[in-house]
Amino acid sequence: MKVTVVGAGAVGASCAEYIAIKDFASEVVILDIKEGFAEGKAMDLMQTASLNGFDTKITGSTNDYSKTANSDIAVITSGIPRKPGMTREELIGINAGIVKTVSSNLIEHSPNVIIIVVSNPMDTMTYLVHKTTNLPKNKIIGMGGALDSARFKYRLAEALDAPISDVDGMVIGGHSDTGMVPLTSHATRNSIKVSEFLSDERLQQVAEDTKVGGATLTKLLGTSAWYAPGAAVSALVQAIACDQKKMFPCSTMLEGEYGLNDICIGVPVILGKNGIEQIVDIPLSDAEKAKMKESAEGVSKTNGLLEL
Ligand code: LAC
Repeated sequence: MKVTVVGAGAVGASCAEYIAIKDFASEVVILDIKEGFAEGKAMDLMQTASLNGFDTKITGSTNDYSKTANSDIAVITSGIPRKPGMTREELIGINAGIVKTVSSNLIEHSPNVIIIVVSNPMDTMTYLVHKTTNLPKNKIIGMGGALDSARFKYRLAEALDAPISDVDGMVIGGHSDTGMVPLTSHATRNSIKVSEFLSDERLQQVAEDTKVGGATLTKLLGTSAWYAPGAAVSALVQAIACDQKKMFPCSTMLEGEYGLNDICIGVPVILGKNGIEQIVDIPLSDAEKAKMKESAEGVSKTNGLLEL
């Protein structure tokens, strides 16, 4: 199993590190345009192998895509991250060009690759990969919902004063400060609805804190987060590499599911060796349906800025 991570910045490096630590991939290639940077990150990570006990071989490449040849999975993290006060949508101008070039280079050397898009604005970048490559839709996956759901579970556990492992919940919709739809009515603690423990106001606060989860970190860190994004990507990569059939909300091209068409947006999917093996179309409450519709309108508006 060969995995390529494009972009050796904080998210790319953290993702490569988590993949290596879990030791399910034989090879991880990190690629970056900055001379020597990916090689440096790869070497530093390889020097953790004897300490962390993994056998995954990590190599770096300065923009040489021949080194990524025959990758099974590729993760695109390249592009600029947001600065405090910026929305993810504001990154579209620079990142669209980068994601288009990167995906075409990847496919040239790995025609059967499964691509996971992380660069922002993620739903629109995932849509761009659909529109500009010939990859089948099951092989194009946008990473947002897995991260947003992890942030939702963190906020739920905090509100419940419970361990995170007691809590389950999911965030669908667009990966944006206003577009996320935390499914508060479906969230549970040990299979009991969290609404049994938390007031409507507290649950609403959890949802709002979840939606600005990335922005809160960007303000604290001065740039966007990396540990949770890296861990979320590595969970998706592992689900595909190990054919786990695990369910995550991911951005995928919808063809009628959730009443939406010609849009990539976060919905629950089953991930296995073929990438997205199923889109899980669950019934939503009227309020959730309205939020999903509004979220989709926001994503479509950003898609309209693409020069396709
Ligand atoms: C975040 C970035 C990865 O939410 O979109 O932290």
